[in-house]
Amino acid sequence: MAKTPSFKLTKAHVPWLKLGIHLGALLPLLITYYQAFNDQLGGDPVTALIHFTGLGAFKLLLLSLLITPLARQFKQGLLINVRRLLGLYSFSYAFAHLASYVLFDLQLDWSLLLSEIVKRPYITVGFVAWIILFCLTLTSNKKAQRNLGQRWQKLHNWVYLAVGLVALHFLWSVKSDVIEPLIYILLTLSLLLYRRGKLKRWVKNRINNTQISKK
Ligand code: HEM
Repeated sequence: MAKTPSFKLTKAHVPWLKLGIHLGALLPLLITYYQAFNDQLGGDPVTALIHFTGLGAFKLLLLSLLITPLARQFKQGLLINVRRLLGLYSFSYAFAHLASYVLFDLQLDWSLLLSEIVKRPYITVGFVAWIILFCLTLTSNKKAQRNLGQRWQKLHNWVYLAVGLVALHFLWSVKSDVIEPLIYILLTLSLLLYRRGKLKRWVKNRINNTQISKK
């Protein structure tokens, strides 16, 4: 049962909430890169950067998916106004994650990147998730929403596949301690479970569409 809220988010609160998200997402990113370039990020700054940005992208993605359940449960419809911003920051972190890997770990060796994508399953799923998030970022504005019409929602439902792939990427990337990725998998599953009706319809539609295009 949704609770009657004692605090109601108004339009005047939204810019402050957005400011909080800008600061909360941007400052740690800038500080971490500053530390990396000034030898303040421990003995292996490249790995630290890759881990920080990867985890940051995942947390922001989960937060963006938490907005709808929160808005419904606490009857705060205006919360939806920050969902896109969280999604955009999630991709910004994912961009920094890939950029740090390609620039500092692979030293811009693009053929090595390609072979890593093909040979290492955890990189393959990370790459697919990255491409999905990239497409969603490109089409996240009002103009794309208008132009795509009904197809926009269908396209943006791919975020559920992306978050599942990221959870798998995380689990696969760790060598020993699986507790942290398992906690993230549980969080991911509960957010997907909340949308089980919508997900069932989406999977059914995808199967139907594939069968139609095969005929
Ligand atoms: C082409 C795309 C991607 C590449 C090449 C890539 C590469 C990597 C690498 C090299 C690691 C470190 C593995 C290790 O410690 O040995 C990693 C970890 C990780 N990545 Fe990615 N990744 C990609 C996409 C993504 C995306 C899209 C997300 C999230 C939205 C993500 C989230 C994570 C997380 C959460 C970790 C674990 C961090 C930790 O252990 O603290 N990755 N990734």
